[in-house]
Amino acid sequence: MQLQDKFQRSIKYLRLSVTDRCNLRCFYCMPDKGIRFLPKEQLLSYEEMLRLSDLLTSMGVDKIRITGGEPFVRKDLIDFLEKLSLNSQLNKLSITTNGILTKPFLPHLKALGINQINLSLDSLNEANFNKISRREEFSNVMNTFHQMLADGFRVKINAVIMEGINDHEIGDLAELAVKYPVSVRFIEEMPFNGSTNNHTTIKWDHLKILKELKIKYPDIHKTPTPGNSTSENFTFQGAIGDIGIIAAFSRTFCGSCDRIRITSTGEMRTCLYGHNVLNFKQLLREGHSDASIISKIIDAVQKRSKDGFEAEKLRDKTNPIGESMSLIGG
Ligand code: 5AD
Ligand code: SF4
Repeated sequence: MQLQDKFQRSIKYLRLSVTDRCNLRCFYCMPDKGIRFLPKEQLLSYEEMLRLSDLLTSMGVDKIRITGGEPFVRKDLIDFLEKLSLNSQLNKLSITTNGILTKPFLPHLKALGINQINLSLDSLNEANFNKISRREEFSNVMNTFHQMLADGFRVKINAVIMEGINDHEIGDLAELAVKYPVSVRFIEEMPFNGSTNNHTTIKWDHLKILKELKIKYPDIHKTPTPGNSTSENFTFQGAIGDIGIIAAFSRTFCGSCDRIRITSTGEMRTCLYGHNVLNFKQLLREGHSDASIISKIIDAVQKRSKDGFEAEKLRDKTNPIGESMSLIGG
C-alpha cells in the first residue's frame, strides 16, 4: 500500500525525533534558560519507535531520518539504529546531528549502511559559532566534519542564515563546496525557537541568499533537483560539492511534500507548521492494534493541509507557532 493525502501526494518519508534534548542551545531553536526537557517516560521508547516504523514502512514510507534535539544525546541510539536498519522495506536511513558526540560512532553508522549525514554548522568562525550555539564545541564539531569526509560519508551542511548573525559568512560557507565534496544547504530561519515572540518576515529569504551567492559566484546555476526535495540545488565553477537553498520559511516546496514527522513527544505531524494530528504514544500505550493505528494514520493523512500556510492557519489560537524545533524534530 502507498499512503497518500487528498492532493495525491505520496507519503514516503518519516522524520523521527528521538529526543528533545540537546547539548547545544542554538538560539534559533531554543531559549538559553528555562527549557523543560521531557521526562523519559514522555518520550517514545525505542520499541515503540520500531513498531511505528514497521507500520509506516508497511504503508509505503521508505526513508527515515533520525532527528532530535541531538539524537546522540539519547542513550543506546546505535542499538536502536541497528534494529531499525534491519527493516527491509526501508531504502534509506539517515541522520541529522550537531556533530558533538558523533565522531566515535561513525564506523557504526557506516556499518549500518548509513552513508549520508546532515551536520548542523551555522558558522565557520569559532567565536560566532559559540555565540549562536551558546556553548563551546566548535572544535569537536569540526573534527567530526573532517572525520565524516575521511570516512567517505556524503555530508550535507545545514546553515540557518540569520540577519546580523551569520549573513556575512554566506560566502565562506559556500566555499566549503569548493574545498570539499559537500552539499552546503542554506536554510531560511523559521519561527520555531521555543518562544512565541517570533518573526513574521525574514530578511534572508531564498531569493536574497541566492543573490548574495551570485556576487561571489556569478556563474552559479541550478542543477536538477529531485521532485520531492525541499532544497533548490546549485553549482558553480570550481565547486566539487554543491549548494542547496531551503525555503523553509517561504514554503515554496509544499506541493511535492512527501514527509510526515513523529515529534519527540510521540505525536504525528503531517506539516511542520501545523499542529499534532495523532497521539501515537497514547495509542500505543492504550494497546491499540496495528489495524486500528493504521486506520488512524490514513485518516490523519487524508486531512493534511495543502501547504504550510494553511496548516499554520488551522492551528489552535491558544497554541501559536513557536515551539522549539527540538520538540518537533529539526
Ligand atoms: N529555522 C530553521 N532551521 C532550524 N533548525 C532548527 N531550528 C530552526 C529554525 N528555527 C534546523 C537547523 C538545524 C537542524 C537540527 O534543524 O538546520 O541544523
Ligand atoms: Fe541542538 Fe540542533 Fe537545536 Fe542547535 S538546532 S540547539 S544543535 S537541536
